[in-house]
Amino acid sequence: MVVIRTLGKQDEGAFDNYQQALLADHNPFLYVPAQTDFKAYLAKLAQYELKPSHPDDSTATTYYYFTETGEIAGRISCRWQLEKGNLRKVDGHIGYETAPKYRKRGIATALLRFALEKYRQRGILDVLITAVEGNEASRKTIEKAGGQLDAIINFEENGKIERLAHYWIHLDQAEKTVKSYGVNANPNMRRPVVKPELVEMMRTEQKQLTGFLAEIAQFAHDENVPIIPHETVVYFQFLLQALQPQKILEVGTAIGFSALMMAQASPSATLTTIERNPEMVALAQENFDKFDQDHQIQLIQGEAVDVLANLTETYDFAFMDSAKSKYIVFLPEILNRLSVGGIVVIDDVFQGGDVAKPLEEIKRNQRSIYRGLRKLFEATLKNPSLTATLLPLGDGLLMIRKNNEQVDLG
Ligand SMILES: C[S@@+](CC[C@H](N)C(=O)[O-])C[C@H]1O[C@@H](n2cnc3c(N)ncnc32)[C@H](O)[C@@H]1O
Repeated sequence: MVVIRTLGKQDEGAFDNYQQALLADHNPFLYVPAQTDFKAYLAKLAQYELKPSHPDDSTATTYYYFTETGEIAGRISCRWQLEKGNLRKVDGHIGYETAPKYRKRGIATALLRFALEKYRQRGILDVLITAVEGNEASRKTIEKAGGQLDAIINFEENGKIERLAHYWIHLDQAEKTVKSYGVNANPNMRRPVVKPELVEMMRTEQKQLTGFLAEIAQFAHDENVPIIPHETVVYFQFLLQALQPQKILEVGTAIGFSALMMAQASPSATLTTIERNPEMVALAQENFDKFDQDHQIQLIQGEAVDVLANLTETYDFAFMDSAKSKYIVFLPEILNRLSVGGIVVIDDVFQGGDVAKPLEEIKRNQRSIYRGLRKLFEATLKNPSLTATLLPLGDGLLMIRKNNEQVDLG
């Protein structure tokens, strides 16, 4: 099976073979820095996705690998800006290479097509790619991908003057299905609150999604729709299998990913989910019509505070994943409809770590969220009628157990 993806722990052997093959090739067009500690290399890759390897001459970079039945055939590096160091002059946005035995099979072309889609999704529509003037194979690949030769420049490397062809690829704006979210949706998800290498490990080494959940997660990723991250998914699957709730309430459906995941993990439960954004409601309903085969899920369109006030049932599990500043407003309504012993899980309570800082350090436009979350903590963490715990999964989960019929939130 062919997959283009970032590296995971399972790839150590394949990466070693790939690296040895490149080193043995002595290709004059390739610079291959030897990596001896794979774990440390994975940690570095996870960091480079968020920040540059060298603040002065590099940018955040993602490395995607072309894998075929567990072997690595090639790699493409996507640098997400050009401002630093020599990138605009020498390296450009993209670098790629293919292992010798996989050359002439269109792998570089496939990698380039894949990378260009990633640039398009990020709204980077003018992509610079460079190739040494004499590297005919590379230049053909770039031209085939739509590269237009802009200039051939001289540059000096190790005291030698080289000539470098500069190509620009101009991309069309991606035709997005989802209009509600742009590339910068949910920035706190890109500010992990635990070490990036641990996040990477939790996302790649735990059981992966399959079937329609994998399909919906991929759609969400491509269309920037914020859904719970994989480490939270795996935790929910574990928790719900253990608790086997019968009535689940969710605030914040988006396209229905977490609702379908919770329904699958709790086969005897029914689930009510609330969403106010009409575009999300339409997409979620489409997913429920296709994938909620046992009719476990009821979707209610509306502003949560209004919908919650009109619910008449009692729930034993609730998940809040909506406007963060409003959690403290919704919580009393949710607790009123929760059985004693019932659990509430609240997502994204850490604001990328900002919630632990003093108010003066918080950007003004983030302060209402901050205040809402701080009130939520004050009302719940030490409340004698609740048992509460904070978990550093995703952007932070707050879990609450209702211990008494009456709960005074102060
Ligand atoms: C992070 S997304 C939910 C993701 C979903 N739980 C998942 O993981 O698949 C948050 C959603 O909550 C909805 N939302 C935010 N505030 C809301 C409110 N006050 N009432 C109803 N929906 C709300 C937004 O429109 C958005 O679609």
